[in-house]
Amino acid sequence: MGKSIVIIGTQWGDEGKGKVVDLLTDRAAAVIRFQGGHNAGHTLLIDGRKTVLHLIPSGILHDGVDCIIGNGVVVHLPSLLEEIDGLVGNGVAVTDRLKISAACPLILPTHIALDRCRERASGRQAIGTTGRGIGPAYEDKAARRSLRLSDLFDSEAFNARLTAAMDLHNFMLQHYYHAEPVDIDATCDEWMQMAERIKPLVIDVAGYLGKLRADGANLLFEGAQGTLLDIDHGTYPYVTSSNTTAGAAATGSGLGPLSIDYILGIVKAYTTRVGAGPFPTELFDDMGRHLAKVGAEFGATTGRPRRCGWFDAVALRRAIINSSVSALCVTKLDVLDALDTIKICIGYRLDGEVYDVPPHLVGRYEDCEPVYEELPGWRTSTVGVTEFDRLPAPARRYLERLQEIVNIPVDMVSTGPARGDNIIVRHPFD
Ligand code: GDP
Ligand code: IMO
Ligand code: MG
Repeated sequence: MGKSIVIIGTQWGDEGKGKVVDLLTDRAAAVIRFQGGHNAGHTLLIDGRKTVLHLIPSGILHDGVDCIIGNGVVVHLPSLLEEIDGLVGNGVAVTDRLKISAACPLILPTHIALDRCRERASGRQAIGTTGRGIGPAYEDKAARRSLRLSDLFDSEAFNARLTAAMDLHNFMLQHYYHAEPVDIDATCDEWMQMAERIKPLVIDVAGYLGKLRADGANLLFEGAQGTLLDIDHGTYPYVTSSNTTAGAAATGSGLGPLSIDYILGIVKAYTTRVGAGPFPTELFDDMGRHLAKVGAEFGATTGRPRRCGWFDAVALRRAIINSSVSALCVTKLDVLDALDTIKICIGYRLDGEVYDVPPHLVGRYEDCEPVYEELPGWRTSTVGVTEFDRLPAPARRYLERLQEIVNIPVDMVSTGPARGDNIIVRHPFD
């Protein structure tokens, strides 16, 4: 019997999901993306070579593994082709292993233009999106006017639907945002050409996964973004436009929820956020700058500096509930190596009371004051440590304390960006 594992981010994204997916791919037959789009940036460091993936699943550097983009992902064809070409240029076999759902909604150039105009018009209220058209593309999906990959197979119908969609977008661009429209005819021509390269990759993903599962294959589902960016459960409206929690692995691939056996929550040993919105444990002092510098906290997609703060066990408790997290993988432990003391947020103080889960009214997030517990640091390098018992005692204590606070096990620890820098306490596929 195979095992299906879902990997999700439990914070605001960039927890190190890509690295962990790559690592676990050596035991999987297929890696599946199920939500988000090329707003994601997943970094792999293998033999000193860095690869940043946006749409293509992080299993692509393992020969022979299927890499699947499920129906929940919004696809920008030029970005997908550019990513394929980049990998092929580096000698990676992509096209015989990459498979894409016919039901993926397309991100059009006008979605990107609308995303950017809207952000500009929002001024100080801007969300700080990645400017990739994610929000407008998911809006059109909910409004039932998306073009989907399946539409590429009928060029006449495709042109008609593309024209109708872009007409509407151009109306908004010109008359609401006073911006330049996008050339519809040129887009039709370009996209029909791109379609020829994409069509051979389009499959019935749910049927394919159902068969793999029935054949006893191990499946690895790769989340993008993080729980606090979830459209329903995150810090709305400062969120992305998809469900980033584990349930989306089912709806975004077509394999039902009872087919998921284990959910690995990825959590950084501290917290980061890129873009606007509440962040109770954010540090504005030298400590914040230290974490940003040592952790090299710059966005993998936009290059923006990431905001940094202490570990937030309160938000994590909610993430564990939202995604039925089985166990944690704590990443970037090594970034804390030089610290004298380390803080963990164990409660939020709000209106004089201390709470151990976040407020259900997300508007109150801004008013939460973190309550910290302090632990001693270890002041020695943990980079590349591969055995739990080889960690300095205060680092072991820190990890044990995290487990006690949130009451689930830490099955993995990442001790550096490279593929081999890990402690595997219990292998998720065992
Ligand atoms: P993702 O979006 O969740 O896949 O994460 P990103 O790739 O955007 O950001 C994580 C960054 O941290 C990348 O630059 C990784 O190479 C790096 N990284 C991952 N794990 C570790 C670790 O344990 N230690 C250190 N120092 N860096 C790590
Ligand atoms: P990975 O998969 C971190 C953030 C943006 C912004 C908000 C909405 O690498 O963890 P969007 O473009 O999605 O409409 O932006 O979500 N965001 C991410 N932050 N990591 C990501 O992906 C993100 N994808 C989107 O910064 O605050
Ligand atoms: Mg990232």
